[in-house]
Amino acid sequence: MAKLNTLPDALSSLLHNDRDWIPEHIVESAWLEHTPFAAWLMAALEPRVFVELGTHRAVSYMAFCQANLRRANPGKCFAIDTWKGDEHAGLYNEDVFAEVERLNQKYCAFSTLTRGTFDEALPLFADGSIDLLHIDGFHSYEAVSHDFHSWLPKMSDKGVVLFHDTEVRDKAFGVWRLWAELISEYPHFDFHHGHGLGVLAVGPVIAPKIAPLLHPEVAAKDVERFRHHFGELGGEVSRLYRKKFNITPGKPKKNFRSRLLGHIRSLAQRFRAK
Ligand SMILES: C[S@@+](CC[C@H](N)C(=O)[O-])C[C@H]1O[C@@H](n2cnc3c(N)ncnc32)[C@H](O)[C@@H]1O
Repeated sequence: MAKLNTLPDALSSLLHNDRDWIPEHIVESAWLEHTPFAAWLMAALEPRVFVELGTHRAVSYMAFCQANLRRANPGKCFAIDTWKGDEHAGLYNEDVFAEVERLNQKYCAFSTLTRGTFDEALPLFADGSIDLLHIDGFHSYEAVSHDFHSWLPKMSDKGVVLFHDTEVRDKAFGVWRLWAELISEYPHFDFHHGHGLGVLAVGPVIAPKIAPLLHPEVAAKDVERFRHHFGELGGEVSRLYRKKFNITPGKPKKNFRSRLLGHIRSLAQRFRAK
């Protein structure tokens, strides 16, 4: 296994590299607060192939593409979605896909939009070919478990899987349950802000720059510093969003309100468990 960096080294390099990075594509999305981490991860993991399951308005996907563009050797990126919506994201119209296609033109040298179901897209990828997979489709336990297990054979030796919404305990959301099962099997790390984002190393090789995060021997306070750092950067992106759309913090939009309730429930549950 690669020699471990110490977390403070990893921290100082990211502080220098990424403090000023902001996403170019800012629209309403529960993913906004993770965009700075997407930029860091693209640089740290250097995925040859990145696949996203669930793109919608492409806040997460465009952040990955933006970060990919500044790499010396950008990897290939693929977004998979029906671009029709679902029960959780809501059903939406064709304008959404048209806008994502427009945004994608800037990245078309390495980025492909694949319109269809996740299952339909499976045969497009060889086994062992994906270095980074982001799962953000339908969030029931059954759906996310199906997505994870059906795409797992596609992951490379250094494969990392991201799960969004690991903190949402809303009745219909089951990512937290799957996450609780998987972390006993694989090296992992998670953020609690932005509805939760899980980072799971599913391959036998852990890229040296992300290794410090995934090893239990790293001091909890250093991991907490890392979390805090990205929580702060994420908060900054949220502030930019509110400013751009003139949203008063006291009056969250309807979609935000229901996610916020889920987050409050999850915090209460965690508090009770202590
Ligand atoms: C939560 S949204 C994605 C959010 C996005 N990552 C962002 O940054 O805001 C989920 C998306 O997954 C898509 N989706 C859900 N299940 C799917 C499936 N089985 N196949 C294809 N698309 C699916 C929906 O159409 C929806 O656009």
